[in-house]
Amino acid sequence: MEKNFKRTLVTCALPYANGPLHIGHLAGVYVPADIYVRYLRMRGEKVLFVCGSDEHGVPITIKAKKEGCSPQDIVDKYHKIIKDSFAGLGIDFDIYSRTSSATHHRYSAEFFRKLYDDGKFIVKESEQYYDPEAKTFLADRYIVGTCPKCGNEAAYGDQCEKCGSTLSPEELINPHSAISGSEPVKKKTKHWYLPLDQYEGWLKEWILEEHKEWKPNVYGQCKSWLDGGLQPRAVSRDLDWGVPVPVEGAEGKVLYVWFDAPIGYISNTIELLPKTWEKWWKSQDTRMIHFIGKDNIVFHCIVFPSMLKAYGDFILPDNVPANEFLNLEGEKLSTSRNHAVWLHEYLQDFPGQQDVLRYVLCANMPETKDNDFTWKDFQAHNNSELVAILGNFVNRAVVLSHKYFGGLVPEDASPAPIDTETLAQIPAIRKSIEDSLDNFKFREALKGAMEIARLGNKYISDTEPWKTAKTDMARTASILNVSLQICANLAIVFEPFLPESCRKLRKMLNVNINNYGVHTNDDNFDTVPQEHPEESGIVLSWNLLGNRNLLPAGHRLAEAELLFSKIDDEAIQKQLDKLEEAKKANALAAKAAAGTASKAAPQKDSCTFEEFGKMDIRTATVLEAERVPKTDKLLKLTIDTGIDKRTIVSGIAEYYTPEQMLGKQICILANLLPRKIKGIESQGMILMARQPDGKMRFITPEETLDNGAEIG
Ligand code: 2FM
Ligand code: ZN
Repeated sequence: MEKNFKRTLVTCALPYANGPLHIGHLAGVYVPADIYVRYLRMRGEKVLFVCGSDEHGVPITIKAKKEGCSPQDIVDKYHKIIKDSFAGLGIDFDIYSRTSSATHHRYSAEFFRKLYDDGKFIVKESEQYYDPEAKTFLADRYIVGTCPKCGNEAAYGDQCEKCGSTLSPEELINPHSAISGSEPVKKKTKHWYLPLDQYEGWLKEWILEEHKEWKPNVYGQCKSWLDGGLQPRAVSRDLDWGVPVPVEGAEGKVLYVWFDAPIGYISNTIELLPKTWEKWWKSQDTRMIHFIGKDNIVFHCIVFPSMLKAYGDFILPDNVPANEFLNLEGEKLSTSRNHAVWLHEYLQDFPGQQDVLRYVLCANMPETKDNDFTWKDFQAHNNSELVAILGNFVNRAVVLSHKYFGGLVPEDASPAPIDTETLAQIPAIRKSIEDSLDNFKFREALKGAMEIARLGNKYISDTEPWKTAKTDMARTASILNVSLQICANLAIVFEPFLPESCRKLRKMLNVNINNYGVHTNDDNFDTVPQEHPEESGIVLSWNLLGNRNLLPAGHRLAEAELLFSKIDDEAIQKQLDKLEEAKKANALAAKAAAGTASKAAPQKDSCTFEEFGKMDIRTATVLEAERVPKTDKLLKLTIDTGIDKRTIVSGIAEYYTPEQMLGKQICILANLLPRKIKGIESQGMILMARQPDGKMRFITPEETLDNGAEIG
């Protein structure tokens, strides 16, 4: 950090409250942000960590329509699921609020109004697509039709997902509204635009010249946007869900979700710190960091900074360490295809193992390129790193200290070279971890932390205190003292990454941690809930990392507790099966959709109830079956109708052999007028289901019924 900052404001992309969180969200945004915040706090920095649900936008209204409830019902449901699952994973925001809150509505309207009054917007009238039946304007995504390039009948107005072409609604053949199915019409409408073109020169200077240190993926995306030239962006929409545009003549219009959502960072700060929020947003000695995924870069590096600049006295982000995407088992994560690991399900399936997920997501974080999560790799990280190295080392050190020294830290009276050499390695590792964390390189930092655990594990394996205990208690004391000092160092270094396991480790070591101490001295931070460090006893902090004497001889340890446990193949297979099930369900749904959309025969003309009632449809059983000579298609069947035994000639020989028909219960139309087929009188008709490709199957009751049971 070059400048002398007094405080850091960390924001995380506000997740849309129209679905639960999955591992892609976590690895991209929330796990790195939480690690970063915990790290800064342990270093004694003043940090505010803000997030909340993004509760506006068209997809939420569509989901509500589909589910027959209100948008508020949808966001209430998912806000709770998301908030609870963040807590379950130990993502520890100072505030997790929501954009449907009164404070947000008030403040985002005020924000818009100030820009409006200051003449920062331009107003434009344009023609937009409108659904006359649903009485709503349609975003391009909500117009569907046939792709002119590949013939896909379910292409969107902005893109065909089958051939990947970028489209506009005009190009679609047979365009229709995804909401009502009706044909969209063009309708004039007025909107407010932020003239981003006017900010281009300033943005070029601010990002391309002054922020060359931003991650290459972020800098590169900004550069390509800026090189391409910026256009005015509409900041309002015709919609009945959102923050109403606070000017006269704007009835039926709301702020565009991407205008109000980032203001959510501010309004959530206001909700938490109504008196002192400006210190976090308007003081030059505040450093602001936005954690986001790569799809949000343009909004956080170009649009939101332009809004803040237009307003006037806000600070701008110091860094925007966006990540790339995480894939799952080699395929893109997909909410709609349910190809995902949902956080709330993980927390249920792996209770108490939230840190394992944090660990694996950090180890695979898509920092510079897209990365893959696989369940086998998850299992391997847990079993061969967390269990076999970190957990095993801590367990050996604490259990043996209880066994040989009654749970008191023994004295290191005469250190051997291996002791001092081992401990001496920690400060250099600390330095490299700090360099990594300061530069948002979380994978590298985690590797560094694990290096200390490896060091400890190797040390205790090499020195074998369980053997020295047979001959030399003084040496055993030294070894266990050193091992416990390493454990205390681990309790510091892993705190940002594995908070729950470190809480357990601190309990075992009978120490506390000072990771929130900064709150206690800050008058302006008095409304934030605080975790007070203990008044007495040993208090660890980041500054002590690398110290060789964290636990004095004679300090009492608590009972050993396992930090991690093995994850077996069965648990992993269960997760893989779940993904397979989702795939099968998707394939079926896709087949069904394709069938109804394109292949099923059109519906016949209507018939009356009376007309239908004339048909005598009933169950019957095939008693005899034989081919009709000199034909390929016909079988002659003798059937028991419950009323009589009769003959029916049926064209099913291509699909069923006579043997297959014997004894089958079928359904027949009994009162069809008899007709002669190949000289045989057929007295009725067997009911068959025929697929568009010609395949036929007879209709059979779900369980065997009496013959003659009436259908209708
Ligand atoms: O992409 C998303 O999930 C958005 N809901 C992120 C919004 S970030 C911010 F601006 F609020
Ligand atoms: Zn196509």
